[in-house]
Amino acid sequence: YTVEYHDSIGSTNDRARELAVDGDRDIVVVADEQTGGRGRLERSWDSPPGGIWASAVLDPSLPAAHVPLVTLAAGVAVVDACRAVGVEATLKWPNDVLVGDDPDSDRGGQKLAGILTEMEGEADRVSWLLVGIGLNANIAREALPDGAASLQEQGGDVDRRAVLQTILESLSTLVAAPDTIIEQWRAYSSTLGRAVRVDTGREQIEGRAVDVQFPGALVVDTDSGEEVVHAGDCEHLR
Ligand code: BTN
Repeated sequence: YTVEYHDSIGSTNDRARELAVDGDRDIVVVADEQTGGRGRLERSWDSPPGGIWASAVLDPSLPAAHVPLVTLAAGVAVVDACRAVGVEATLKWPNDVLVGDDPDSDRGGQKLAGILTEMEGEADRVSWLLVGIGLNANIAREALPDGAASLQEQGGDVDRRAVLQTILESLSTLVAAPDTIIEQWRAYSSTLGRAVRVDTGREQIEGRAVDVQFPGALVVDTDSGEEVVHAGDCEHLR
């Protein structure tokens, strides 16, 4: 990847999108701070200096239906990088990286990182694809929103360049071997086996999360049988 670095930017995803639309590929936009960081579901994303705010423009030559796999792969790559610096992160479906998400503790998990994948294209032709990664790295407690955690807090400051390098290497390896993504995701997940409530925007589905299946759907065992959820906001209940 070529890296384009900014001290401060609105959103690395917005800049990556401009590059992607222009036809650039294999480029990563990185910033120390974002002034208009965006999260999923139109939420804003706090991005003070010290985080890893990065957006990778990927090769879009894959069927649009496989794009959810890329999001899962990015989550796996972030967990790989966190574990490499000794932080036991886990994944909450579809794309949240958590710490301390232990079903037996009264305090739920805290969010360490999130992924925002964006694309444009039709069923069998993706014209561009980018993956935005926000990882709370060298950020002090006071600068974090409620419910968030940082690597600094977990084990001290990290070398952000090295952590990003691990993420990108792992992401490339996974994207080149898509058959391995779901298996890796399952291994890192703290969603599977849990009681969950998923808000799909149309309905709330409650039950036990039993699996993640191709290309990234959550299978929930409910009172009325198994439901396959393709997108939504998931809450771990216990
Ligand atoms: C989420 O969990 O809601 C996704 C958060 C994604 C945040 C990252 S930070 C880098 C990139 N630029 C953005 O504006 N958002 C993503």
